Amino acid sequence: MHEPVIAIRSLKLDRGGRAVLDGLDLEVRAGEVHALLGGNGAGKSTTLAAILGFLKPGSGSIHVGGHCPSREPDEVRRAIAFLPENVALYEHLSAWENLSYFLSLAGETREPAAMEQALNAVQLHAQAWNTRAGGFSKGMRQKTAIALALLRRTPILLLDEPTTGLDPAATHEFNRLLGAQRDRGVAVLMVTHDLLGAAQVADRISMLRGGRVVREWTASPGPERFALAPLYQAFTGESAQ
Ligand SMILES: Nc1ncnc2c1ncn2[C@@H]1O[C@H](COP(=O)(O)OP(=O)(O)OP(=O)(O)O)[C@@H](O)[C@H]1O
Ligand SMILES: [Mg+2]
Repeated sequence: MHEPVIAIRSLKLDRGGRAVLDGLDLEVRAGEVHALLGGNGAGKSTTLAAILGFLKPGSGSIHVGGHCPSREPDEVRRAIAFLPENVALYEHLSAWENLSYFLSLAGETREPAAMEQALNAVQLHAQAWNTRAGGFSKGMRQKTAIALALLRRTPILLLDEPTTGLDPAATHEFNRLLGAQRDRGVAVLMVTHDLLGAAQVADRISMLRGGRVVREWTASPGPERFALAPLYQAFTGESAQ
């Protein structure tokens, strides 16, 4: 088994005078898709912001590929492609121009063939490639942002509700793409409310509540992977656990 690429230990982090993360432990390994689930306001996006070094912990530690996000943000961010909760594209630029522009901000360029491949992989229809993003639907924006994250070819993917706005066919295709990333050895941490999607693609599912991981499930070998009923009960609070 690989060493964890992301290792969070006993993390405490306050926001607005309130403890949002309160003793969080979480690990993500290379070649693993780790789904982070939890209710609204549970601290999922906060966890991603802390991994990226946008928020500083009060106590505890975060290591990303051996680097500390608050002390070495550049090293950490180079290793991560981040899909934010609210995708922001340049409205007057096309999908293609958005990709080129964001890649250049990251100090990267890609061959047109690679950009085509990424846009095809997310199933953004070709007429949209050279259309201004200002006229895009939510799903089209999301697909453009996913294509960008894939093009970065980083060892770590942090995804905040990546399938929000995607139709079922696109979600299915996205889960397939994530599987391919895992097979390439990428470490994926994905925040989602899609329990079914998580059960399809994740290797581990963690449930965040009260600022810490209270339950964790590991996929079993074989087609079923996770038993859905206990997962659903745990997340909807219907179970005595
Ligand atoms: N900018 C901010 N300033 C102060 N408090 C914040 C800020 N952003 C979030 N919080 C608080 O931090 C807590 C966790 O928020 P966070 O966005 O991490 O939740 P989440 O688990 O991602 O929820 P959701 O499923 O709704 O996206 C919430 O109580 C929220 O009010
Ligand atoms: Mg969130």
